[in-house]
Amino acid sequence: MFAFSSVVYSNPYNNRMDEFIDNLMSKMTLEEKIGQLNLPASGEIITGQAKSSNVAERICKGQVGGLLNLKGVERIRDLQKLAVEESRLGIPLLFGMDVIHGYETIFPIPLGLSCTWNMEAIEQSARIAAIEASADGICWTFSPMVDVCRDARWGRISEGNGEDPYLGSEIARAMVRGYQGDAMKRNDEIMACVKHFALYGGAEAGRDYNSVDMSRQRMFNDYMPPYKAAVEAGAGSMMAAFNDVDGIPATGNKWLMTDLLRKDWGFDGFVVSDYTGITEMVDHGMGDVQDVAALSVNAGVDMDMVSDAFMTTLVRSVEEGKVSEETIDTACRRILEAKYKLGLFEDPYKYCDLKRPAKQIFCDKHRKIARKIAAESFVLLKNEGNILPLQKKGTVAVIGPLANTKANMPGTWSVAAVAENIPTLVEGMRFALGDKVDIITAKGSNLMSDAAYEERATMFGRSLNRDSRTDQQLLNEALEVAAKADVIVAAIGESSEMSGECSSRSELDIPDTQRTLLEALLKTGKPVVLTLFTGRPLVLNWEHKNVPAILNVWFGGSETGSAIADVLFGDVNPSGKLTTTFPQAVGQLPLFYAHKNTGRPLGEGRWFEKFRSNYIDVSNDPLYPFGYGLSYTTFEYGDVILNTKSMSMDGEITATVNIKNAGNYDGYEVVQLYIKDLIASVTRPVKELKGFKKIFIKAGETKTISFKISPEMLKFYNFNIDYVVEVGDFDVMIGPNSRDVKSARFTLR
Ligand code: NOJ
Repeated sequence: MFAFSSVVYSNPYNNRMDEFIDNLMSKMTLEEKIGQLNLPASGEIITGQAKSSNVAERICKGQVGGLLNLKGVERIRDLQKLAVEESRLGIPLLFGMDVIHGYETIFPIPLGLSCTWNMEAIEQSARIAAIEASADGICWTFSPMVDVCRDARWGRISEGNGEDPYLGSEIARAMVRGYQGDAMKRNDEIMACVKHFALYGGAEAGRDYNSVDMSRQRMFNDYMPPYKAAVEAGAGSMMAAFNDVDGIPATGNKWLMTDLLRKDWGFDGFVVSDYTGITEMVDHGMGDVQDVAALSVNAGVDMDMVSDAFMTTLVRSVEEGKVSEETIDTACRRILEAKYKLGLFEDPYKYCDLKRPAKQIFCDKHRKIARKIAAESFVLLKNEGNILPLQKKGTVAVIGPLANTKANMPGTWSVAAVAENIPTLVEGMRFALGDKVDIITAKGSNLMSDAAYEERATMFGRSLNRDSRTDQQLLNEALEVAAKADVIVAAIGESSEMSGECSSRSELDIPDTQRTLLEALLKTGKPVVLTLFTGRPLVLNWEHKNVPAILNVWFGGSETGSAIADVLFGDVNPSGKLTTTFPQAVGQLPLFYAHKNTGRPLGEGRWFEKFRSNYIDVSNDPLYPFGYGLSYTTFEYGDVILNTKSMSMDGEITATVNIKNAGNYDGYEVVQLYIKDLIASVTRPVKELKGFKKIFIKAGETKTISFKISPEMLKFYNFNIDYVVEVGDFDVMIGPNSRDVKSARFTLR
């Protein structure tokens, strides 16, 4: 049996990568090459059983290139050992996992993280996720998800960075840097997998997996930039989206996977399908399993996640001339290159240091950082009469179905989280506040009404976990607890499963029974603060009208409870700003700030005019615009000053604004720069984010903030999808959100 013993394995770095892989591939059979393209589910492998499992047998036969979502360094080491010692060529495996917003130390869901507008913090969250995951044997994460989304019905809006391509691109780069570090050289740096290529966030009607059909202009100007940014940042792999793009499923779309991704953008990593994405093309109507596997590999998809379609059909397809051996070689080479770049040929156990988990996973240091970042992700939506921050004294009643649950704190896609280690909201608050505040608590309601639970139980064929007490019993108990409190904190919103994959919603209200609870709490006449848990923008008209203070906490991760206490009680002044528009009605969706003008726009300040582009029952405005978020202090913006009103093609303009912290609290402000191209060869958005700065201003202090504007920043994809800049007038807008901006005009000559 050949193994990487002395000659080849011991010192591959003496060879260049190409030579090493040429040498290795010259020894591989066609079946072994196809084996490298196979990413089966790992099944229920536990240590000790690894050897006898079905997956183990396949590993030994060289039929597996990697495994996914297997947790535990010992198990991973055992399986790696099988690959290295028992398969003919001893090629190490990739171990991938959905490490989306942290490993065991969980950070806010990505949508929440994006609301920090803090690229260092976002990079740090990815860095810590990589440290913890790699300590547990993982060398590859299925993250970042960079799908732009403008429709809050889509459950996976929670996993992305919101609606904006510019901000999304900055975040994509930060995440890749955080995961991959210094080109994955160290044993705590792992390979990123950018997903879902492409346009998954554009699913029609916000229904998961649905078709995406959009103009090339929208595609290139608004949806593609974050994927491209991640490629430019050196991401090692890319995941194909489930949806079709221009009538061809992404997983079999050669234009997407080869022409655009590799030829135009120069991507040199490998592409993995999504989970059974290849065989799902049968339902897309692209042929039988053999056809779709061939379509996929010929398109440029290198690895088959879970479908087993490559394993079962590619040999035959090569024999029948449907796929060339060269195509298989190319795909195999890309997988081997990834393993080489990760250093797995040099040391297959690079990520299997059994001493690391105890020291590095869910450690105090990481949890403290997660707490800080969580607090930074919260968005203060309303604070009437400065009810917040609360004083650290008296009795606070924390009431609601999200008050005492561990499982709901981390939020969707927290595969590695250990629920029992995660403090509930009440536990976290008690930990943060000590005995300064007496915290009492009640559940108040289930997540949904009794009737809704019954309906869903029938739908899913199983009963869902809920309290055995009736809605009325829970409400009575809550009112008794509320009666003893000085202030009520209502812990209300979505459960974590209500967003994420396959969790599209057609109504975006807070579930009925929780609204009833909230109404009852408000009727007590005590001050009520709504801490809103959600994985997406909700329709909050009623809450906005009736509740004095609303702090949107998304799903803040493992340290949610303490972080909420930090903000509610003023140790942290909130600075989060929305990265996705909150609508007034589901019927407005998709709703986003960077929309285009129509030929019949509404007059300034009007919400209805005859024969204008509007609805007859709701204004065009969002409830909360993109970029919006309050602070405990107030920031006053001066006028936008341009150093010149005219810019040449090789010139630059500086836009400056004075910002005064006019309140009583020191605080961070996210200053946002938007630009509008007034006249162009194609219709252009009413404004587009082109820059931002997160700055700290002490109470009473004024800071001068400048942005440099260059012609490069004014480029867009024109009708022919050429990336151009066109001369003419531009409005520069600066403000605290996308709505409340001040502007100045310049001309590009
Ligand atoms: C399906 C999801 O779409 C994708 O994001 C995830 O990485 C894979 N499953 C693997 O779990």
